[in-house]
Amino acid sequence: MTDFVLPSDITEITERLGAAATAFSGKTVVLTGGRGFLGRYFMDIFARLNETVLADPCTLIVLDNLITAGKEGADIPEMPHVRFLQHNVSQPLELDEKVDFVIHAAGIASPFYYRAYPLQTLEVATIGTRNMLELAQRNQARFTFFSSSEIYGDPDQKHVPTPESYRGNVSCQGPRACYDESKRVGETLCYIFHENHGTATNTIRPFNVYGPGMQETDYRVLPNFASHIKAGTALNVYGSGSQTRTFCYITDAMVGFLLVILRGVPGEAYNIGNPKPEISMLDLIARIENVLARKIEHNVIEYPDSYPADEPLRRCPDIRKARLQIEFEPAVDLDEGLRRFFTWSDAAYSGDV
Ligand SMILES: NC(=O)c1ccc[n+]([C@@H]2O[C@H](COP(=O)([O-])OP(=O)(O)OC[C@H]3O[C@@H](n4cnc5c(N)ncnc54)[C@H](O)[C@@H]3O)[C@@H](O)[C@H]2O)c1
Repeated sequence: MTDFVLPSDITEITERLGAAATAFSGKTVVLTGGRGFLGRYFMDIFARLNETVLADPCTLIVLDNLITAGKEGADIPEMPHVRFLQHNVSQPLELDEKVDFVIHAAGIASPFYYRAYPLQTLEVATIGTRNMLELAQRNQARFTFFSSSEIYGDPDQKHVPTPESYRGNVSCQGPRACYDESKRVGETLCYIFHENHGTATNTIRPFNVYGPGMQETDYRVLPNFASHIKAGTALNVYGSGSQTRTFCYITDAMVGFLLVILRGVPGEAYNIGNPKPEISMLDLIARIENVLARKIEHNVIEYPDSYPADEPLRRCPDIRKARLQIEFEPAVDLDEGLRRFFTWSDAAYSGDV
């Protein structure tokens, strides 16, 4: 077990999964992006399932080219039943063993990084997805693609909370297009492989997942705030600060992801997030002040060059489909999640960023 995550969170996740997880017994899972934020949780969850629940161990083949994995991700732990391959999934891959599940979580997810690596961002979600779909097809494996809530772009008010049926309001040009549009193509590839090749595909659209394990250099909003708080410097809020988001604590998200992987109806896409509360960036700071019981200095500033402007004004999932079809229900409220995350980041972050 790494110390990037809270062992109690891994316990919570495996307990909430219950008997459903036994479907992984004796199976082989390919996990791409396995050294990223979500990937490292998958590794620890499978390790815990192997120790406690599975009659026969599940073998994990972890692929990552480490492009944004950072120093924590590049430090590969020795774990039983885990094989790590440093591999760019935008290149084809042949494996000798029979594969049962492919979890395609490789991606360039942080706006700071997709601004820096637009072509790699586009390729991993398109060519990478096709390569992994072909691997799944050859093996008749279940395939799960990590798409994004960003495929909805900037929805109009009447489509917030946003259901899976909403088609999106996305620009094919501009600084966010490499991410949003390539995730949309990735979803189209899943559709084609399901419809035309009979591959059991699912798509997950995560809505702002956060928790221990997010790197200090991740630059998504909560680790960004946490690194400033640790350093004792003022937070920067980009734009007006009135843009709203919802935040899904990692234990809720991982339970939702694994329920899609195990129970998702083939061919379907699922929103995974916590619809409550939908909160502006300025209110989020007030909430953090409350949780930490102290004032936090902050400035509202123009978008810096390193961050793609044009961000959506509102983002909030409609999760009725996941509730109904896979029995997903978030259980960790925002204050509790923030408490766990900031307690962890205060101990883990250096404050030197
Ligand atoms: N965390 C969230 O809130 C969130 C929200 C929406 C979508 N997603 C999607 O979920 C997936 C996982 O997210 P995360 O938060 O763990 O991201 P992350 O950036 O922490 O991890 C992604 C990992 O993929 C690896 N990678 C990138 N390109 C690769 C390539 N070509 N070949 C092999 N490995 C490659 C990176 O090195 C990194 O370790 C991503 O696809 C992301 O777009 C996440």
